[in-house]
Amino acid sequence: GRACHMTGKMKVYRNLSAWFEDRGAILKKHRERGIGFVPTMGALHDGHLSLIRQAKAQNELVIASIFVNPTQFNNPDDYAKYPSTLEADLRLAESAGCDVMLLPSKEDVYPDQYRYRVSESEFSKILCGAHRPGHFDGVLTIVLKLFQISQASRSYFGQKDYQQLELIRSMAKAFFLDLEVIGLPTVREADGLAMSSRNLRLTPEDRKKAAMISQLLRQSFTEHKSAGFVASELSKHGFRVDYVEDHPTGPSAELRRFVAAFLGDVRLIDNMSAPEAARGTT
Ligand code: PAF
Repeated sequence: GRACHMTGKMKVYRNLSAWFEDRGAILKKHRERGIGFVPTMGALHDGHLSLIRQAKAQNELVIASIFVNPTQFNNPDDYAKYPSTLEADLRLAESAGCDVMLLPSKEDVYPDQYRYRVSESEFSKILCGAHRPGHFDGVLTIVLKLFQISQASRSYFGQKDYQQLELIRSMAKAFFLDLEVIGLPTVREADGLAMSSRNLRLTPEDRKKAAMISQLLRQSFTEHKSAGFVASELSKHGFRVDYVEDHPTGPSAELRRFVAAFLGDVRLIDNMSAPEAARGTT
């Protein structure tokens, strides 16, 4: 039953024309007191739900979207196998406080067939950008479109995708977007694995092994070991490592260690700073 529902009923828009019809009235009613926006690709987990809850705490209205964006997948197989759990997603989003759910189609968001795109020329070229050609062009383009579609005042992203978060933040600044970009801490499973929709695709054996990524990140900081140590330990245990690299991040330029590694055909990423490792939160 839906008896203990704390939130109102979520309105689901299955195409954008219906949303554009209602949007004017919704903005007029809520934008002054804040509209929070959480873009997702679905297969919602507690990381997404923490974004929706924070959006609810800071805004009068919360909009989320589910759109598996083809332009950010450099690997067609990864796109084809991306998990889809729509019915559960709708229930979870609503129970976390989402008021409006946008489910646009490819035709809705790419009327231009992706002729127009946003591209960044520095930070998007390292780390995941170096290993996934075109990935961040796809991300920045869809996020700019979704910002325009939602007209939100605040948007929420997880720090698990740290490079994505920083690129979106700097895009908002570069284009004078009238919205705030808010990053929230990575939500982890009990064994430390960063929550990700792709975790659903791991075999049971690989799912157990996957916890090594965050465990090695933490251990490498507390035991003063290098990025190279993390890479060689992961390789030794059967991961195919894309990169383990340190980069200064944030206003204080503190060092952050970034990992991307495959188990089978599932690509996992994570990142951690020394203070985060010392806090020992899993
Ligand atoms: O982080 C994601 O799920 C996606 O990259 C995003 C931000 C929804 C854009 O498609």
